[in-house]
Amino acid sequence: MSDTFFITTAIDYTNGKPHIGHAYEKVLADVLARFQRLAGRPVFFLTGVDQHGQKVQQSAEKQGVNPQEFVDTLTASFVALWDKLDVRYDRWAATTAPSHKDCVRKILQRLHDEGQLYKATRQGYYSVRQEQFLTDKERGEDGQFGPEWGEVVFLEEENYLFRLAEHRDWLLHLLDQNPHLVQPDFRRAELRNAVEKLSGDLTVSRPKARLSWGIEFPFDPDFVTYVWFDALVNYISFAPGYDPAPNADLSEFRRHWPALHLIGKDILIPAHGVYWPIMLKALGFKDSEIPTLLVHGWWNIAGSKMSKSLGNIVDPDVLADRYGPEALRYYLMSDIATGRDADFSEERLVQRFNADLANSLGNLLNRTLNMAQKYRQGVLTAPSQPEHLDLVREALPVEAAAADYRAAFEQHAVHQALEAAFRLVAACNQFIDSQKPWAVAKNPDQAGLLDAILYALADSLRVTAILISPVLPKAARAIFGQLNLDAPFQIEDARRGLLPTGHQLGTPTPVFPRIEPSAPAA
Ligand code: ME8
Ligand code: MG
Repeated sequence: MSDTFFITTAIDYTNGKPHIGHAYEKVLADVLARFQRLAGRPVFFLTGVDQHGQKVQQSAEKQGVNPQEFVDTLTASFVALWDKLDVRYDRWAATTAPSHKDCVRKILQRLHDEGQLYKATRQGYYSVRQEQFLTDKERGEDGQFGPEWGEVVFLEEENYLFRLAEHRDWLLHLLDQNPHLVQPDFRRAELRNAVEKLSGDLTVSRPKARLSWGIEFPFDPDFVTYVWFDALVNYISFAPGYDPAPNADLSEFRRHWPALHLIGKDILIPAHGVYWPIMLKALGFKDSEIPTLLVHGWWNIAGSKMSKSLGNIVDPDVLADRYGPEALRYYLMSDIATGRDADFSEERLVQRFNADLANSLGNLLNRTLNMAQKYRQGVLTAPSQPEHLDLVREALPVEAAAADYRAAFEQHAVHQALEAAFRLVAACNQFIDSQKPWAVAKNPDQAGLLDAILYALADSLRVTAILISPVLPKAARAIFGQLNLDAPFQIEDARRGLLPTGHQLGTPTPVFPRIEPSAPAA
């Protein structure tokens, strides 16, 4: 199996501008990828946009532009935002790319050749918004289809169906044998319940007469591909070395695959949890090649869902301009537990930045460098006396912070990893308050103690910069710069005592200027 950390996000619909939920998912994937790079592991990070479907066709029509122009404009706003937020991916998946369309067609042809697709007439209720046929399961308690389905129409049409239901028992067995495949656990339980109820097959085509903005079927030009089938394929069509031909050489692909798919809770059932593993199974993927799903929660606004109709959509681009990209990254990573929902609050963003970054870490950096300049012209001397070594080891839990941090990342719990890093920062500030270096400096007999204090603080700042670097890459580089050290760094360097005696520190310039709550423009 591959040693590459292959991470993907959902590909975002290009029928509107990017919102805070999109930004959260991208930044989380970026942070998980950066952590793995820090740990020295090869990483492949794939993300992109989902450009087909009826919603796009309708929105483009409303604006009087062709769908490609419509999605190109919106795609540009996604690309620009990820650039602004320092989201560093390895490949961009845009589903109108010819290579992707070609791969989807080859997959359809193969499934057709192998008897996995059949044509049938279906009659029933259809949600235009969700672009899917509805069954009685989707009816609410009042027997009606709820508002989440938008406009519901009765349709009778011929389509191609993919044999989904016959794989039900295989999927149940797979989930039971491989509990890690869906995280967190409570999402796997939800998925298992849904799979138990699985009955029908999946309609993978749409008649061109009603939807033209999609990938044309290879063996029947009257149909285009259902947008979810098209979109899910991005994970392999844009992966290095994938080829859908039955006897293809997949050695390069297998050096990367299987992926970790980061998705939101709304797209687990049925798309990623049911359709996708069964599609892969039908394409000859082994059980060990079925990807893992990491399911994150949603950001809500004052307890409600963010929605166009409520007019409460939070624009990450505006927040990044107002507070800086790293302030936004820090908030999105520190104020939510992976897997759970959280409430978005601009006030909290400002509070957390000021408390954790401007006050705790910013002041620590400033105080440490100023004292080192004032008392030692910025030159460090490593402690050698056992009593000094014991004192700093006792006061500054560097190893424990690094270990807790790594354990948290193993669980994808970025907020906990940050807490571990900031426990070290808090310990450093307490150490300054209790040791009072300004008093120690007055006593020439305590020169060795003062050296030990200054060294331990600068060294802990070095470790802290490494620990925050996946979330705050620019701030980490700035701290390294002021410590007069060269980036890049490795997670192995997050241990005590790596600064040499005689190391010359730089001078402080604020890395996290306080955000004045009155500052934001309307
Ligand atoms: O579902 N908080 O695209 P999408 C957190 N194109 N995450 C949120 C969120 C919120 N408030 N709102 C949405 C699609 N998301 C498909 C995916 S993948 C083969 C195709 C997340 O633009 C959502 O859960 O509607 C999903 O993971 C991602 O944003 C894209 O949502
Ligand atoms: Mg959605």
